Amino acid sequence: MTDNRDDAEAGKARGIWCREADAGPGVTNEAEIETLVRSFYGRIRQDEMLGPVFNNAIHDWEPHLLKMCDFWSSVMLTTGRYKGQPMRAHLKLKTVTPKHFDRWLMLFRETAEEVCDAETAERFVEKAARIAESLQLGMFFKPQLHDPEQRQAYG
Ligand code: HEM
Repeated sequence: MTDNRDDAEAGKARGIWCREADAGPGVTNEAEIETLVRSFYGRIRQDEMLGPVFNNAIHDWEPHLLKMCDFWSSVMLTTGRYKGQPMRAHLKLKTVTPKHFDRWLMLFRETAEEVCDAETAERFVEKAARIAESLQLGMFFKPQLHDPEQRQAYG
């Protein structure tokens, strides 16, 4: 038999049909978001630099992972499922520095490139980098360092 269903089954077996049916280059979906989120935080938790920060703050991981799926679904698919205040959550993290953000973005890029096609990975990374930048402005920006009078006082 060579009807379309058989083609679909054969395609699935070769691992090429699902992506064509569900998403094209540069397009993601909920299943891919969940794979990315689980795989990324799996790495984060094992990471020498970031693991302790996350493991100290998060004791029950499943709700955090589901929240992050909602977050990325809102960002990438504009579903509006995430209703939270990321800035407030990050301002609580007193040990985090810009180096932690560099590492976060590196691991995120690595994971996205493994899970998604190249174009989709790039879209995820672009969004993440932009959000990381605004979080860092909120966390680390010190207006006094840009004020000449104050700068004198700081040497
Ligand atoms: C050094 C980099 C980062 C660290 C160490 C970090 C750490 C954390 C931790 C520990 C939490 C849980 C806070 C809590 O429940 O009390 C959290 C929440 C969250 N993070 Fe990050 N994060 C980082 C970067 C990012 C970036 C770049 C994004 C977005 C692209 C992001 C998005 C979020 C969101 C949406 C939440 C949930 C906030 C809420 O409770 O609604 N994080 N992060």
